[in-house]
Amino acid sequence: MEPKDLLAKLEQKSQEALQGGGASRIQKQHESGKLSARERIDKLLDPGTFVELDRFKTHRCTDFGMSDQKVPGDSVVTGYGLVNGRQTFVFSQDFTVFGGSLSLAHAEKICKVMEMAQRVGAPLVALCDSGGARIQEGVMSLAGYADIFLRNVLASGVIPQLTAIMGPCAGGSVYSPALTDWIFMVQNTSNMFITGPDVIKAVTGESVTKEDLGGAMAHNAVSGVAHFATLNDEECLAKIRELLAFLPLNNMEDAPRIPCTDDPGRRDLNLRDIVPTDPNKPYDIRDIIRSNVDNGYFFEVHEHFAKNIVVGFARFDGAPVGIIANQPSVMAGCLDSNASMKGARFVRFCDAFNIPLVVYEDVPGFLPGVHQEHGGIIKHGAKLIYAFCEATVPRLTLITRKAYGGAYCVMNSKHIRGDINIAYPTAEIAVMGADGAVNIIFREEIKKTGDPQAEKNRLVDDYRDKFANPYKAAELGYIDDVIDPADTRLKIVSALRMLRTKQATNPPKKHGNIPL
Ligand code: HXC
Repeated sequence: MEPKDLLAKLEQKSQEALQGGGASRIQKQHESGKLSARERIDKLLDPGTFVELDRFKTHRCTDFGMSDQKVPGDSVVTGYGLVNGRQTFVFSQDFTVFGGSLSLAHAEKICKVMEMAQRVGAPLVALCDSGGARIQEGVMSLAGYADIFLRNVLASGVIPQLTAIMGPCAGGSVYSPALTDWIFMVQNTSNMFITGPDVIKAVTGESVTKEDLGGAMAHNAVSGVAHFATLNDEECLAKIRELLAFLPLNNMEDAPRIPCTDDPGRRDLNLRDIVPTDPNKPYDIRDIIRSNVDNGYFFEVHEHFAKNIVVGFARFDGAPVGIIANQPSVMAGCLDSNASMKGARFVRFCDAFNIPLVVYEDVPGFLPGVHQEHGGIIKHGAKLIYAFCEATVPRLTLITRKAYGGAYCVMNSKHIRGDINIAYPTAEIAVMGADGAVNIIFREEIKKTGDPQAEKNRLVDDYRDKFANPYKAAELGYIDDVIDPADTRLKIVSALRMLRTKQATNPPKKHGNIPL
């Protein structure tokens, strides 16, 4: 063949590969409110940076007339490119080709980018839109899923793995997303479930819609499986880019620092009045966080689940940190099972990827209740302790008000290797609140007096003076300083600067045994 004919053939093959399942199926995709697999990649990556791999790879199934139904690239588009100028790997399932179903060839393409991402040390973004196992391929498809699961686990803690669910994701195919670090879902077009509404109806008799069972809000607010609920594909892809900007490319690198445009020594006099002195009055911990961090920019994650704990990313002095904060405006900031799991997973992610932790503490304790006890608050609470105890990244705690009981120990206390622990003058560091403590230790004395209420009030005031303040803990060195709230930002910045060269290790072991 002449060179021009060779090039013409390449051009023809390339055009075929770009067409996926064809114009009418792409139109159907658009009509259902979804972008195509390639449009999604274009929106995720910096313009013009996508390099495709395996665009001519096809399935090898010969059953059910499949030999005649081959589409170049099969049902997934894979490759690499840049996000915010940084290397990123991506696969995007193409619903227009056999419903994005997973053939062995499809799985091989995914495994190739997963391995490459791990080899070069760059994040992997999965854009999922698939009818699950390619029915015509039977066990070969199942083998493909298992190949992916293995690589998800091997890459865990080595490179960040992000998944966006942008269409159906059912059956065993939910487990690759579940093994990754972050799950994004698009409202009204995506769902995840092991068994769908019809099977549930047949087995348990329960009636439920797809959206209520496994839609974006079901998994963001109820199950906690997903971390972000977005309005549409565009918002979802923009959020992925936003999250990636906080993350290192791999576990050997520091998180990316950007020039700081906010004065590191900026004071905020409003902070002196933010924490109510009445211990029963709520406030929004995010007001303090936003006041402290660079430019007030706090990127909250897992926002809709276990709202009694707030987690997310921000920057101090241009460097990313992970923030974990009790939220006094929800359940008084109590730790329950869900909050413990949410916090523990976040702490472990940050620790795996060298992101310092900043803890804001205002916690009256673990949530009492039969439901919590029987639901395993003991083992779930232990997850949070475990996560903090093993973390070796720089770790700061600011106690704004309550630090009661076991929750004091858990929330990154000095005793479990918190590096810098500071408190506001409003802090109350004690075994429990003054009311509860007085009721228990002075019950008899109170009964004996002529005016029990007046005696109780006197004892509560006395207890508060003695114990419900930060100074006892400061005397013991359990906190390093009591600070003027107006100075919070500069205190945190100076601690983080000091801790930049921190070195800490854990004893050598195969792995620990976190109470799962
Ligand atoms: C092969 C499939 C397919 C599949 C869809 N298609 N799912 N082909 N294998 N799993 C094809 C359809 O034949 C159709 O082809 C095209 O994709 C679009 O599908 P539609 O049904 O027309 O689309 P829609 O109405 O939007 O419904 C989408 C859907 C539905 C909800 C995903 O297709 C569906 O229920 N599919 C089967 C889901 C399933 O049971 N998968 C197996 C799960 S078990 P044409 O040619 O008409 O365009 C599993 C095990 C994994 O995945 C285990 C891992 C451990």
